[in-house]
Amino acid sequence: MEIQEARRRLEDARRVAVLTGAGVSAESGIPTFRGAGGLWEGFRPEELATPAAYARDPEKVWRWYAMRYTQVMAAEPNPAHLRLAELEQRKGDGFLLVTQNVDGLHLRAGSRRVVELHGSITRARCERCGHRQPLPPPDAFTPPPVCERCGGRMRPDVVWFGEFLDAELLARAERAFMTAEVALVIGTSAVVEPAASLGRAAKASGAYLIEINPEPTPLTPLADLSLRTSASEGLKTLLPTGS
Ligand code: OAD
Repeated sequence: MEIQEARRRLEDARRVAVLTGAGVSAESGIPTFRGAGGLWEGFRPEELATPAAYARDPEKVWRWYAMRYTQVMAAEPNPAHLRLAELEQRKGDGFLLVTQNVDGLHLRAGSRRVVELHGSITRARCERCGHRQPLPPPDAFTPPPVCERCGGRMRPDVVWFGEFLDAELLARAERAFMTAEVALVIGTSAVVEPAASLGRAAKASGAYLIEINPEPTPLTPLADLSLRTSASEGLKTLLPTGS
């Protein structure tokens, strides 16, 4: 049976690559980007999440990020985040978790082998010297933050529309997916490149591809197993001894 086969593959694999998207944090109460109640609903992304928007009105952009930062810090990692941290413990060096999420919840759940492909709203980056620093706790934070190294103006440490991903992080993610024996793609609509290509690259390189998503995605036809359920239920099914 397919699920038994997927469990066996995951158990035996030495190299496992995981890609997560907004769906993994949905059960922590953080809205996804697309779909009803999505984060972009009522906002035009080009008004807030672009370099041009920031150049035009940095205070407005910071207000939006400060609001989202407060929201994610009030949320807790859910069982899907926790099970992925456990999987890393079992696999060690052969494991990499690549996330498109900027909410920092994988790190708060204990994951350490993590690539935050789109950055993190829990950090700011200096526009002058590039220094990154964590934001103070939400109740002590008044945007915009000032660089502790050089006093320069800081921006949210996230990737905006029209910006390139960090080349080193992307290369690390690609290497992990192209050498993985099992690739897991969880809670992403798989429509935003280049993250969406990671699952395809893994499959093309011979990996066993597992998708967990309540809705079908462009990756579904390629997947060896597609679990049409939530991230936490899907991971419970795949890793039954992890609880
Ligand atoms: P999307 O909002 O596009 O997709 C969320 C996916 O999660 C959908 O496919 C849902 O079906 C699925 N989903 C919903 N609830 C779920 C649950 N409980 N368990 C599992 N899956 C669930 O979010 P992403 O694919 O992450 O980029 O979006 C990718 C990127 O688009 C984001 O990182 C962001 C945005 O533009 C940047 O900000 C650069």
